[in-house]
Amino acid sequence: MNSADATGADATGAETTGMDTDEAEADMGGSGMRALVIHRYGGPEELSIETVPEPEAGPGRVLVDVTLAGLNYADLECRTGEYLRLPLPAVLGIDVVGRRREDGRRVVALLRAGGGYARVAAPEAAHTVEVPDGVSDEQALGLLEQGATAYGALALAGRLRPGEAVAVTAAAGGVGHLAVQLARELGAGRVVALASTPEKREFVRSLGADAVFDPEDPDLAGRLGQEGGLDLFVDSVGGPVLRAGLAALAPFGRLVSVGAREGVEDSFTMGELTERSAGAQGFWLKHVLADRKLFEDVAGHLFRLSVERRLVARIDRTVPLSGVAGAHRAMAARQTVGKVLVDVRGEE
Ligand SMILES: NC(=O)c1ccc[n+]([C@@H]2O[C@H](COP(=O)([O-])OP(=O)(O)OC[C@H]3O[C@@H](n4cnc5c(N)ncnc54)[C@H](OP(=O)(O)O)[C@@H]3O)[C@@H](O)[C@H]2O)c1
Repeated sequence: MNSADATGADATGAETTGMDTDEAEADMGGSGMRALVIHRYGGPEELSIETVPEPEAGPGRVLVDVTLAGLNYADLECRTGEYLRLPLPAVLGIDVVGRRREDGRRVVALLRAGGGYARVAAPEAAHTVEVPDGVSDEQALGLLEQGATAYGALALAGRLRPGEAVAVTAAAGGVGHLAVQLARELGAGRVVALASTPEKREFVRSLGADAVFDPEDPDLAGRLGQEGGLDLFVDSVGGPVLRAGLAALAPFGRLVSVGAREGVEDSFTMGELTERSAGAQGFWLKHVLADRKLFEDVAGHLFRLSVERRLVARIDRTVPLSGVAGAHRAMAARQTVGKVLVDVRGEE
């Protein structure tokens, strides 16, 4: 998503996006560590491995000795400055797993102002959860940011009810492949998915999707609308795909947008929603993080499903810091399936 889509604000700085500028600035300070830094917004070539000061914990924050950082689509947009314009120089990366320094406990944390591609991170304590035994570092990291987004879109914003028909876009992606599994867990009657290659479609079918279509299908709306139409359309793409989702809604169906790589402006009018008795809602994980109890409940739910092997994050690849630029290129070229992890420990 771009910052205007996400916030309704312009993209002039972290403050205007509702993020904490001081949070981002606090991520520099203390002794040295290896991290992946950008000095200006741009392509993957802007990512450079450097020694930077370790972050300081500061009020309300904890230090985490990071084992793995996550790669998210949002990182690509932070790198170009389309999404959060982090104060430069900036360390990208919005989710990490590792050991909390104060007690050595294994934690996973979300960093709303970056700082993840580094040996040490300083998340807000309230955005940190302990990883239960039975959940690996890889699974915890694969599940939290993207699983909470998938759950939020389906259950909190989409209010999915048992028996309903739901469709998920970019269904082989980090958020999407968890949304397909969670839709099943939430009792969806029919799960429809979109993915752009035969290999991705096969993977999504293996997760329990009833039907998987190519987002480029010329009759996408017709295919999505089969069998009485959709009750819920969870979208992270925007553009023509979102239009097709709207056309495929059953009466009283809902659109939920979590992002809009291809734009959402002018996608539909209120009149078109009225004609279908349809609803449209956004979802932003920030609003789960703002409510500690809700965040703990959602994380606990994801981890319980993980322990029971009812929800599994597919790990696409694990790269060292020196491999992140290549992984950014692969994600932009739609070549990743599931979650990409960054092992930050290798670069001395
Ligand atoms: N609202 C929130 O709080 C929140 C939180 C986390 C993530 N998000 C959003 O959720 C979406 C998914 O994030 P993610 O990190 O899990 O990424 P991801 O889905 O793994 O991203 C890669 C996939 O996106 C699909 N895609 C569709 N249009 C694309 C385009 N124009 N360029 C590149 N890829 C495109 C591709 O799948 P196909 O080739 O199969 O189409 C690609 O493989 C993003 O839009 C992100 O901003 C929102």
